[in-house]
Amino acid sequence: MGQRAGVGLKCASVDNGRRVLELGPGTGVVTEALLARGLDPRRLIAVEKSPCLIEVLRERFPEARFVPGDALELDALFPGERFGAVVSSLPLNNFAAPNVARLAACIRAILDPGGCWIQFTYRVLNGQPPSDAFEQVDSELVLLNLPPALVCVYRPVTLDPARPPL
Ligand SMILES: C[S@@+](CC[C@H](N)C(=O)[O-])C[C@H]1O[C@@H](n2cnc3c(N)ncnc32)[C@H](O)[C@@H]1O
Repeated sequence: MGQRAGVGLKCASVDNGRRVLELGPGTGVVTEALLARGLDPRRLIAVEKSPCLIEVLRERFPEARFVPGDALELDALFPGERFGAVVSSLPLNNFAAPNVARLAACIRAILDPGGCWIQFTYRVLNGQPPSDAFEQVDSELVLLNLPPALVCVYRPVTLDPARPPL
């Protein structure tokens, strides 16, 4: 299972000493993989909407910080804070389009310059980033995972000053 974090840890933003924000950690499979590959738990903050899972996660990873809440409210949960990477297992395929757009805007606002958004998913769709504000810079299909997981790395699109804001 730890293989699922392979692409994530290739991403410099996870290894560069900055804080990492995990979204939808569930039971902690990706959390465990990130920590097993060397991420300092004191640099890991995760948002999970299930209070029961928050308890499980706090028990499993006492040095990391688990915040109960909705990932669509990142701006309210972390006002003025920045992270080097966002690692998400949120089921975006089940999110309404406006919510995907809201999430993308929140992630863009919360990323440090040079930061990235790493998204785990279990369904391969059209290969497009979830938002026009991001471009895909890496991906990996982990066939050993059941079901096979697609891991994509997105970076914010650099804005052209001649273009209107996204
Ligand atoms: C596919 S599961 C994550 C699986 C996890 N990687 C694992 O292996 O256990 C998605 C998780 O996202 C959480 N989630 C869904 N929508 C959320 C939201 N809007 N904000 C925060 N967490 C959310 C769910 O409660 C669930 O734990």
